[in-house]
Amino acid sequence: MSETTTPVKACRTVVLISGSGSNLQAIIDAQQAGEIPISIKAVISNKDGVKGLARAQAHNITTEVLSHKGFESRDAFDSALKDCIDKYQAELVVLAGFMRILTPGFTTHYLGRMLNIHPSLLPKYQGLHTHQRAIDAGDTEHGVTVHFVTAELDGGPAVIQAKVPIQQGDTAERLAERVLREEHRIYPLAIGWFARGRLKMIEGKACLDGEEIRL
Ligand code: GAR
Repeated sequence: MSETTTPVKACRTVVLISGSGSNLQAIIDAQQAGEIPISIKAVISNKDGVKGLARAQAHNITTEVLSHKGFESRDAFDSALKDCIDKYQAELVVLAGFMRILTPGFTTHYLGRMLNIHPSLLPKYQGLHTHQRAIDAGDTEHGVTVHFVTAELDGGPAVIQAKVPIQQGDTAERLAERVLREEHRIYPLAIGWFARGRLKMIEGKACLDGEEIRL
């Protein structure tokens, strides 16, 4: 049976961004094409004036800016962010280029219902500058991972990965462009699985249709 014809209730989704929002755009496009049963209730950015906010507004999606700068601690910001998200009764929280380290209190609150996309073949290259690090290490392939978010930075159970060959003379920018194309393909796919109830985190493991995902 085609996934697109199965009638399901739209999953209430909040997307967190910090920048360009090209992954957000891919998610909006997939939702509008009827490929993923979600309803984006809000897009929240910790940075004002970023392109992702304009992308959301162009589709009449509610936006909020919550700058981390006005808060005295990580806990205080995360607590305010949690209140902001929970106003929308989110069933799914999608981190789409949200460049903040999250506190355990925050990740625990959304355990099993928060996804992140990270531009590396995790567990390789957690953190920043992943493309340059893969090139510098002489790797022949790089890629991207979607995973459930846990307290460990870029460390939760992986849902799906896409590999991208590293070419001779690659720059971080060129490699990042090719990785982004894969990001835009696999993130909507994973979100669609979650929204249809096929993807769950069970006892710390990512499971699709009840089977543990092993990458
Ligand atoms: C993407 O490459 C995403 O994987 C990365 O930030 C970029 C955001 O691009 N996220 C991380 O590095 C998280 N650790 P976008 O704003 O155009 O979607």
